[in-house]
Amino acid sequence: MTIHSILKMGEARLLCVARPVQDFDTPELRQLVQDMQDTMRHASGAGLAAPQIGVDLQVVVFGSDSPNPRYPDRPLVPLTVLINPVVTPLGAETALDWEGCLSVPGLRGKVPRWLRIRYTGFDLQGRIIAREAEGFHARVVQHECDHLAGILYPMRMQDFTQFGFTDVLFPGMAQDQDD
Ligand code: NI
Repeated sequence: MTIHSILKMGEARLLCVARPVQDFDTPELRQLVQDMQDTMRHASGAGLAAPQIGVDLQVVVFGSDSPNPRYPDRPLVPLTVLINPVVTPLGAETALDWEGCLSVPGLRGKVPRWLRIRYTGFDLQGRIIAREAEGFHARVVQHECDHLAGILYPMRMQDFTQFGFTDVLFPGMAQDQDD
């Protein structure tokens, strides 16, 4: 089990467009995915993108098989490894809700996202994944896939009166995590 340190906003590598994975089901890719899942769980993240641990590849992991302590009231998103993803909005409806990011520790902001999306990509073995999602699930996917395009959630924000430190915005929330 390898827990990687997570790059923080200001690091240039978080602003790059990641390279697509060419070879699936290799020992290197399996190790990367395992490390990303260990790191995501250790940080109680809703998701993690490979560039956040300094790896320039289009790989994201998200979801969990049990409730996330950082988002205890959110619906479960299935534990997923998504490679070379493509996100397409379904309809024009957007939703505004709070997001945090392990690369932007201690802060939360309200971010507009597509309410419903279709996302496609590949799993670790190179099998096609094609799903439709809405709400929190759709938000998590959009957030993680943005990392592969070098976009952090504050770059999507429109109203900076809805941006602040988690302990100030949500004083009752457990503060045992970095984020
Ligand atoms: Ni993030």
